[in-house]
Amino acid sequence: MPNVWFETVAEAQRRAEKRLPPSVYSALRAGSERGQTLQDNLDAFTELGFAPHVAGLHAKRDLSTTVMGQQIALPVLISPTGVQAVHPDGELAVGRAAASRGTAIGLSSFGSKPVEEVVAVNPKTFFQLYWSGSKEQIAARIQRAQRAGAVGIIVTLDWSFSHGRDWGSPTIPDKLDLRTLLRMGPEGLRHPRWLKTWVRSGGLPLLTVPNMALPGDAAPTFFGAYGEWMQTAPPSWEDLAWLRAQWDGPLMLKGVMRVDDARRAVDAGFTCLSVSNHGGNNLDGTPAPIRALPAIAEAVGDQIEIVLDGGIRRGSDVVKALALGARAVMIGRAYLWGLAANGQAGVENVLDVLRSGIDSALLGLGKASVGDLNLDDVLIPEGFVRHLGMPATRR
Ligand SMILES: Cc1cc2nc3c(=O)[nH]c(=O)nc-3n(C[C@H](O)[C@H](O)[C@H](O)COP(=O)(O)O)c2cc1C
Repeated sequence: MPNVWFETVAEAQRRAEKRLPPSVYSALRAGSERGQTLQDNLDAFTELGFAPHVAGLHAKRDLSTTVMGQQIALPVLISPTGVQAVHPDGELAVGRAAASRGTAIGLSSFGSKPVEEVVAVNPKTFFQLYWSGSKEQIAARIQRAQRAGAVGIIVTLDWSFSHGRDWGSPTIPDKLDLRTLLRMGPEGLRHPRWLKTWVRSGGLPLLTVPNMALPGDAAPTFFGAYGEWMQTAPPSWEDLAWLRAQWDGPLMLKGVMRVDDARRAVDAGFTCLSVSNHGGNNLDGTPAPIRALPAIAEAVGDQIEIVLDGGIRRGSDVVKALALGARAVMIGRAYLWGLAANGQAGVENVLDVLRSGIDSALLGLGKASVGDLNLDDVLIPEGFVRHLGMPATRR
């Protein structure tokens, strides 16, 4: 019996690449244009160093914290990803893994499983919305999430429909009918373990987005829903104030990179923001979120909860983000690689890898808890921090 446990996220990624058909793997790798932001999200973490102690270290470290009103056992949340066809259990496997490791899941409105089923396996579920369709439709999706028992809403606004990738985009069919199956058959046949998992589950990926359905309607296809979203005029800050009035629970604005936007998010009544560039999938050339975090944390960190997502691949990355002002991080591709590699156990494996990396870094830095981390723990090279959305003299 081969050892299915992996010791790094890099190994999970290697296994995912081997296991998944190239078009599915490529959809997870994602990125946009020349991939500059995608790369910077990873590189920026390598520019930061640590300042460890040698004595007076703590025998026990506390990794727990709270985000959006939820107690979590480690400062890592599942970021919403609208991804299909990775594994038949999809977000249910991810939700169960997060619950078993004591953390929360952000469920994408473009995900493959209904919010009701995900809340049933993980009550710490935040439902993620895009600004898509009419206000009535948006309000109906919020009400549905609320009825299902979601404990927070994430609104993601950093998407500019920038599709071209220098390394090519995967062909994603609208649905898997016989014709598409015949065309894509060789890909599946060359990845028999992926195919077997789907066949065993009783079918092939549906490629529908059940959380975009309005009451009584069938789930639209991914591309059907994407088309609606593309045709929707983007929201103003007044629209976001309207949104705030539809939901009185914890509300996160995901995708903030600028200090001025962070301030407006506070004014609009958001309780949390994610410093994020959509994992390098939005405007290429946007710097890594970790570079924008310190200025945003300095400006609004005492008024709103701040999380960061983008480029987290190891526990030490999490610790760097916390030292620079985040309360927690969200992970995207890391758990998708784990899901592809080994289903629910693979996602648990990724969370365990991150937990143990956070714990080691806390030990070395002489910290008793994640809440004790601060700028003194990290070596920040000159010019690292970006002050987006501040007067030119302060950039
Ligand atoms: C394949 C893929 C699909 C994504 N889908 C969504 C989505 O539906 N909603 C959303 O808010 N963010 C989405 N994201 C962005 C993630 O939530 C997160 O911001 C990003 O993956 C973080 O970067 P990382 O992958 O380096 O951890 C997606 C990211 C990827 C890679």
